[in-house]
Amino acid sequence: MTKLRLGVLASGRGSNLQSIIDACSVGNLPAEVAVVISDYGEAYALKRAQLSHIPAVFVDPNTFGSREDYDTAVVEVLQTYDVELVCLAGYMRLVSRKMLAAYPNKILNIHPALLPSFPGLHAQRQALEYGVKFSGCTVHFVDEGTDTGPIILQAAVPVLEGDTEDSLAARILEQEHRLYPEAIRLYALGKLVLNGRKVSVIK
Ligand code: GAR
Repeated sequence: MTKLRLGVLASGRGSNLQSIIDACSVGNLPAEVAVVISDYGEAYALKRAQLSHIPAVFVDPNTFGSREDYDTAVVEVLQTYDVELVCLAGYMRLVSRKMLAAYPNKILNIHPALLPSFPGLHAQRQALEYGVKFSGCTVHFVDEGTDTGPIILQAAVPVLEGDTEDSLAARILEQEHRLYPEAIRLYALGKLVLNGRKVSVIK
């Protein structure tokens, strides 16, 4: 079976990237990470890519005048590696129309909350401050909004008495590491059907 070529964009520690690499390597996922790109040169995600012998590319945002110009450079790298699906994994930049046009309905993101609640930064803090009893994570297609695209999969976790941002984040992260590879697997197998903002999973 031919493998879907993934481009993973990550700004930080890259634990979601690692869960995707691991799922690909044990054969759970008919996909391979073709390239990892970061907007932060020191991102541990780049190191993880190198350790797995995956091309790791730092594209420095400071050398571009606009988000569009930056994304043009990122798209060039993605195309160089024949990427078919872009996975944002702790990528802390908004994607511009340039990237959306190059990869229409072919960009996924994982967010650490049950969208549409708590989009944007510090989702776990927002959930704690609001006082919800459940939070979780969401994998969704990326559109021009912030965490507004069609929802593919969600997983819920309880918010416990005495939770801190860190303890809640850790409980959610455990689910992220399961959910993201599963969403990519469904995409790779052609099992996701997008109809407006609704995503159906074909059995
Ligand atoms: C994850 O919790 C991810 O959901 C979140 O950043 C963390 C990255 O961790 N993403 C966002 O908040 C995007 N808005 P990781 O670098 O270990 O994968």
